[in-house]
Amino acid sequence: MQNHQREHLYKILVIGDLGVGKTSIIRRYVHQNFSSHYRATIGVDFALKVLTWDSDTIVRLQLWDIAGQERFGNMTRVYYREAVGVFIVFDVTRPSTFEAVMKWKEDLDCKLAFPNDAPVSIVLLANKCDQGKDVLMNNGIKMDQFCKENGFVGWYETSAKDNINIEEAVQCLVKHIIASENGLMQSADPDVVKPQMNSSRIISCSGCFKS
Ligand code: GTP
Ligand code: MG
Repeated sequence: MQNHQREHLYKILVIGDLGVGKTSIIRRYVHQNFSSHYRATIGVDFALKVLTWDSDTIVRLQLWDIAGQERFGNMTRVYYREAVGVFIVFDVTRPSTFEAVMKWKEDLDCKLAFPNDAPVSIVLLANKCDQGKDVLMNNGIKMDQFCKENGFVGWYETSAKDNINIEEAVQCLVKHIIASENGLMQSADPDVVKPQMNSSRIISCSGCFKS
């Protein structure tokens, strides 16, 4: 490693209902493979991915793969602590998993809303897009608008199976995390108001908002 390189360690949560594909997305991203065999995650699993972000910056992503069944448990408060980025995942073939997106978001908002915490960047993943887009099409959901209204920094249709848009979604999330960090450093000036997690911090990010 070059002396001038800086390293960042980011804790990233991957949440969403049972079977939406969280483990598969991480597995595709970190290990470049896919299995159609479903084995529910119990509690939480971890994965690490190291990115050379640019010639000066190494980014270590600590990915927390949280079991879908944890939405009904009390452990999420512990798991969420000190996260700086989140993927909320739903399954485009199952409407109930899209309805659950806001439940996961509310769970995050109420458990991460400490005044001294850094703001958290959240990207929405519409997974299994290789299977069609039933939820998005049938419900006429305007995803850009939904994301802006609910404080997501972007959204992607993804497929862990066909390796679609996973790299792009990570790039978007990391870009927003770095931008948030830089914003916080500037706001060390007491006259500058620190951005809050629930404010709609929409920073333009190419690829984050698609039509
Ligand atoms: P929990 O651990 O129970 O919360 O589930 P999960 O969100 O981790 O889901 P998991 O990754 O285990 O995937 C559930 C099932 O969906 C598995 O059978 C996967 O093979 C399948 N699956 C995941 N992603 C995709 C995808 O992009 N396309 C298709 N067709 N199937 C997928
Ligand atoms: Mg899992």
